[in-house]
Amino acid sequence: MRMVEVIERKRDGEELSREEIGFFIDGYVRGEIPDYQASALLMAVMLRGMTDSETRDLTLAMARSGETLDLSDVADIVVDKHSTGGVGDKVSLVAVPAVAAAGLPVGKMSGRGLGFSGGTLDKLESIPGYRVDLSVAEFKAQLRDIGIVLTGQSANLAPADGKLYALRDVTGTVPSLPLIVSSIMSKKIAAGADAIVLDVKVGTGAFMRTLDEARALALAMVRIGHAVGRRVAAHIADMNQPLGRAVGNGLEIRESLEVLRGGGPHDLIDHCLRIAGELLRVGGVVPDLESGIRRAAEMIETGAALEKFRALIAAQGGDVRYVDEPERFPVAPVIESVTAPRGGYVAGMEADEIGMAVVDLGGGREKKGDPIDHRVGVVMQVQIGDAIQQDQPLFTVHAASVETKDRAVARIKQAIQISQSQVERLPLFYDRIT
Ligand code: URA
Repeated sequence: MRMVEVIERKRDGEELSREEIGFFIDGYVRGEIPDYQASALLMAVMLRGMTDSETRDLTLAMARSGETLDLSDVADIVVDKHSTGGVGDKVSLVAVPAVAAAGLPVGKMSGRGLGFSGGTLDKLESIPGYRVDLSVAEFKAQLRDIGIVLTGQSANLAPADGKLYALRDVTGTVPSLPLIVSSIMSKKIAAGADAIVLDVKVGTGAFMRTLDEARALALAMVRIGHAVGRRVAAHIADMNQPLGRAVGNGLEIRESLEVLRGGGPHDLIDHCLRIAGELLRVGGVVPDLESGIRRAAEMIETGAALEKFRALIAAQGGDVRYVDEPERFPVAPVIESVTAPRGGYVAGMEADEIGMAVVDLGGGREKKGDPIDHRVGVVMQVQIGDAIQQDQPLFTVHAASVETKDRAVARIKQAIQISQSQVERLPLFYDRIT
C-alpha cells in the first residue's frame, strides 16, 4: 500500500477501507509516514468527511495504536469525562475532584490546547512541578491510592491521537466531526474507563457551530462508546462566550480554585456541578442527575473537593503551596482593563476570537511544541445579556508586553457586540443524550 494513494482516494471523496485506515495509523505512529503526508490526509478528511464505518475504524485503529488499560484490578468502576473543547473551559479542574471526593475514582487523560481552545494539561502545568507524563504503572497506582488522576496521553495510550492532535492544532484540521470523534473516543477507549461523560460544546467558541452539528457529534460518540460496551452520556453545552470569566492557563487555575473554595462565577459552578452530577450517575453512585448535582455541591461545600484537588497536585509532583496561596501564581507584567465605549446590552461575542487573542498573547501555540506563557490571558467582566453602562469594565488583558497587549485589546474589542436593545441571556445547556 502507498500512502499517496490513500491520500488521493480520500481527496477524491472515496471511502477508505479498514486496512487503509490501519495502514495510515500504524505507519504514522511508527514514524514511517511523515507529518506532511499525514497533514494532507487530515485535510482531505476535513474537507471530504468520513462515513460512520470509516469513523469507527479510525477510532478503533487509534485506540489500539498503543496499550489499552484494564482498570478492573484498580476499582469496580472508573469514570472519565471529556470536553470537545472550548474557551475558558476549566470544568475538569472542578468536576473531577468533586467526583473523586464522593468516592468514585476518575482516571483522566487530558489534552493540550487545540486551536483557540485551551487544554487542561497546559493549565495544570502552570503549577510548578506538576507532572503530566505518568506511566501506566503510576496511573494505576495513583488511581488506586487517591482515586484521581489527571495526566497526559503518555504511557503509550492511543499514541496515534497524541501525534495527530498536535498536527491538527497547527494545520487547520481541528473542526472535523470524524477527527474529533476518533480523537476523543480513542483516548477514552484506551484509558479503560467503564463510564464516560462527554461535554459537547456548541457556539462561536466551539468546533461545532450549530446545534445540529453538536448533536451529530454527541450521537456519534455515544454510539461508538456503546459499541465497545461503555456507559456514555453526553451534554450539549453553550459555548458562545467564555465559560466562567478567565481565559488563559494560570488565570483559569486560579478561577477553578475559587470555585473549589465555594466562590466563582455561577455559569461555571452550575456547569461543573452538572457534569460532576452526571459522572456520579453513570458511575452508579446516585440514581439520577439531580441527586448527583446535590452530591457534587456537597463535596464543594464541605471542602472535600478542594482537598482532593490538593491530593492530586501533590501526587503528581506539583507545588501544593499554589493551591493554598493562589497569590503565588506569577502575574503578567502588563495588565490593562478595557471599558465600554457606550452603554447598552452585551449582544454577542466571538468566543473563538477571544481564544485566539489568548493564543497570540502566548497562552497557546502557533506551531507544534511552542512554549506557553502561563501568566497571560483575559478576564471577562461581562456576559451576553448583561446591561452595561458607558465606561464600565468589559475585560482585562494580562500580557507579556505592551505590543501583545495592544493586539489582544483590539481583537477582543472587535469580538464583543453591544446592542441598544435588550438581549436574552444564553442557556448553559441545550440537550442531554444518555
Ligand atoms: N478534544 C479532543 O480530545 N480531540 C479533539 O479533536 C477535539 C477536542
